[in-house]
Amino acid sequence: MVKSENIPVEIEREARNLRKELNYHIYRYYSLDDPVISDSEYDQLFRKLKEIEETCPGLITPDSPTQRVGPPPAEGFRHVRHRGVMLSLDNAFNENELRAFAHRVARGLGEGAGEVEYVCELKMDGTAVALTYENGYLTRGATRGDGEVGEDITSSLRTVNAIPLQLIADEAPELIEVAGEVYLPDESFSSLNKLRLEKGEDPFANPRNAAAGSLRQLDPAVTAGRNLSMVTFAMAYSTDPVPETQWELLSYLGDLGFRTGRNSRKVSSIDEAFEFCMEWAVRRDGLDYEIDGVVIKVNSRRQQEILGATSKSPRWAIAWKFPPEEKTTTVVDIQVGVGRTGTLTPVAVLEPVRIAGSTVSHATLHNEDEAKRKDVRVGDTVLVHKAGDVIPEIVKVIKGKRKGNENPFEMPKYCPACGSLAERVEGEAATRCTNIACPAQTFERILHFAGRGAMDIEGMGDVTVSELLSRGFISDVGDIFSLEPQQLYELPGFKDKSVENLMGAIELARKRPLWRLLHGLGVRHVGSHMAKAITSRYHSIDDLLRANGEELLEIDGVGPRIAESVVFFFSRQENKLVIDKLRSAGVNLTDESIEQDADLLNGRSFVLTGTLEGFSREEATGLIEKFGGRVTSSVSGKTDYVLAGAGPGSKLEKARSLGVKIISEGEFREMIER
Ligand code: IVH
Repeated sequence: MVKSENIPVEIEREARNLRKELNYHIYRYYSLDDPVISDSEYDQLFRKLKEIEETCPGLITPDSPTQRVGPPPAEGFRHVRHRGVMLSLDNAFNENELRAFAHRVARGLGEGAGEVEYVCELKMDGTAVALTYENGYLTRGATRGDGEVGEDITSSLRTVNAIPLQLIADEAPELIEVAGEVYLPDESFSSLNKLRLEKGEDPFANPRNAAAGSLRQLDPAVTAGRNLSMVTFAMAYSTDPVPETQWELLSYLGDLGFRTGRNSRKVSSIDEAFEFCMEWAVRRDGLDYEIDGVVIKVNSRRQQEILGATSKSPRWAIAWKFPPEEKTTTVVDIQVGVGRTGTLTPVAVLEPVRIAGSTVSHATLHNEDEAKRKDVRVGDTVLVHKAGDVIPEIVKVIKGKRKGNENPFEMPKYCPACGSLAERVEGEAATRCTNIACPAQTFERILHFAGRGAMDIEGMGDVTVSELLSRGFISDVGDIFSLEPQQLYELPGFKDKSVENLMGAIELARKRPLWRLLHGLGVRHVGSHMAKAITSRYHSIDDLLRANGEELLEIDGVGPRIAESVVFFFSRQENKLVIDKLRSAGVNLTDESIEQDADLLNGRSFVLTGTLEGFSREEATGLIEKFGGRVTSSVSGKTDYVLAGAGPGSKLEKARSLGVKIISEGEFREMIER
């Protein structure tokens, strides 16, 4: 603390007392869920401290509750070594596996150990972190990483109210490292995803990803807005004696100021532990956060030490995993979609149900064989879960609920989009529309071509593509570059500005690097990664038109399937015609680095703030301009990115209030190092 001579001692004392008082109330509220003052009383105390700190900035200390949101870490997330290895846990998926664990424990402890006491804790479905406190102050917070080395995310963790900035115990140990789980309550997860959808961003698949993603934000203000919480359950290192049992450790952690699991229980046999698991398999629905199991730990630390650990996990603990959540619902319809390659995909439309934190209304049936194997019919009652906790899947049909009027699903013989014959390819699971000019395929192909990962034509989304197709203005990707402004004016809602924007976006796309074009053309089995590999060897479309399978096979990662697909694509007459159209429209068909560079940032506007590590402002400006971007001095609604370095100024605030995307130096590097 920088102390200025002329601050009266009483003010200094008052600030100290206010800090202590406020930190205590944060502990009551966030760690104990048991506040002892009202929110407005809290706010009053907070304001008082804030006022003092504003008049005497010398009194600001890092543990002040006003200082939770600080600047982004200057060097990004550094790697740090944990003081105690953060082990992972073995899993038990059924009663037998749990009993096998208890047998191993009994054997490990030897004859005469008697019944072993266990502590059962809920297994929070979040992300593991380690917190370091020196003389009572939070000095470091890190991700688990590989268990030995994690990333320093102190600036993000400081914003989590359930993490004390200063321990509340009067006699804090000199140094401790505690481990726990940061998680996102269900309600915060839902509102976060709603907001993301509104902003056109992808929603997080589950609260666990959302928690991990929120902590990896370089800007602590973003993390602060996420309403994360944390429970602590282990002491990885301490300079003080540590309690003799896990049960006492939990209350010790509570006394230090941490939030610990509300629903832990000490039990005196594995039978009781199993009952705890059964009980929570049912009660978990009533919690306002996600758990994915129960952790069962040998209570006595002496016994834990006898049992020891393997390189990965302790022998004294096990994670009982709940079976994935399943719900029943009804099949309202089975629709068949047509993809970019003409593949027909049956999808079951479901009566919406909530499963593991999100609403499910569709489940893919993949292909004819899968649909037949599952025998899903319209009107069926089905059991649904999320595969890998993410993708909705029909587990089985509850056949006993059939009324008898449900008809088996038949893969259509004709394409649902164009009515052409649909064929099952020999040796493949896929059924494909045989019409290369099928409008559904054309639509998907154009959408893919214009998409972000490929030619990145901003403003060419599904509505515009479908309008252009239905008017006959385009019939394949080759026509995009011959569109005229007069044609765009005919599209619903298109005015001067939108016409100008789309024409501009198309113009920019004319100069995209070759790999983007190759990816955009939609050669089967050639994604962006493969397109980059191929264009590192073939520097023009003309070279690719002449490529033979053997040469292609020499490229790292290219196998016979890909080689064959590339040769096939470039031998087809209709594809050659598209390439001719692209050529006459002046689209870049070669790989010349100058052209690649110039369009990378695509006219996007940047504002710089704070100090950058890797380059001076002039260098950063030079790079942005070299890659086709612009640098402006002030933030407005038109700014695309604010590139924030250490100690950013008011521009960061402005960007935040306008919802302008804020990027770190690392993210900027990623943008230009494609
Ligand atoms: S104990 C050696 N207790 O589950 C101690 N872990 O699958 C190891 N987890 O990495 C951890 N709740 O991130 C423990 N009450 C709890 C837990 C818990 C969630 C997570 C933790 C760990 C993972 C292992």
